[in-house]
Amino acid sequence: MSLTQELLAILATRPGIAILTGAGLSAESGVPTFREAQSGLWAKFSPQELATPEAFADNPQRVWDWYRWRRELVSRAEPNPAHLAIAELEAGLPCCQLVTQNVDGLLQRAGARQVTELHGNLWRQKCAAGCGAVQTVNVPGHDALPRCQRCNALMRPDVVWFGETLSQAALADAGAAIKAAGIVIVCGTSNLVYPAAALPLEALRMGKTVVEINPARTPLSSNVPFYIGETASNALPAIAQELLQAST
Ligand code: OAD
Repeated sequence: MSLTQELLAILATRPGIAILTGAGLSAESGVPTFREAQSGLWAKFSPQELATPEAFADNPQRVWDWYRWRRELVSRAEPNPAHLAIAELEAGLPCCQLVTQNVDGLLQRAGARQVTELHGNLWRQKCAAGCGAVQTVNVPGHDALPRCQRCNALMRPDVVWFGETLSQAALADAGAAIKAAGIVIVCGTSNLVYPAAALPLEALRMGKTVVEINPARTPLSSNVPFYIGETASNALPAIAQELLQAST
């Protein structure tokens, strides 16, 4: 039996798919991952200087320059075949829920309608003083530090930094997506950052069938029944096509 046939057999008795994604999903769009030895962002930049509340308090200009650079990089990137395959699965299967650690918005640009974003979004900024103001932007922005239109405090990127807690609502949505699924596909994450990395483990504990897609093995790989050692855009379009064909 091929992998897809096995997945179809599982879906016949336990319908529903949750797809959990990380930075590797966007690697083939030219967006760097975080932890890969040569190309990862954390190999070149210090997270302590760029992605903590303390770094922002110490030097907001440095933090904003880095996030604007990342916005520029993402604005030049296009969704790749894996993003498109995931969007097609969401549209074509009766219960397919998407959860991502990515902040790049590329799944949405590929046509995905509902994405639970565990780590925020690069294209949103929020009041750093916590007045609750949130703003969505569609251009990287200019050199000046953006200010809150409500209380005039500095705005900051609406992403989760080291030392910060994730949105409880997003975590609850991710948990619900796993609970509702027969199959959980985990793609393009090193499975090192918690609490996101706990989600596939929770899925295994709940008896879900977990499929991991990643060219490099991760701490999850030896625990899952299906490990696919390929890139996202090699593996996902073929799986999506067969699953969608079988469901029509
Ligand atoms: P990492 O950089 O930790 O891991 C990326 C994973 O993608 C690695 O396991 C690679 O092997 C894999 N990969 C690379 N190219 C791939 C491809 N073409 N197809 C499939 N997989 C590929 O990224 P994340 O696990 O997403 O958090 O990192 C988690 C969090 O750590 C990020 O959301 C970010 C970071 O600090 C915040 O900024 C809060």
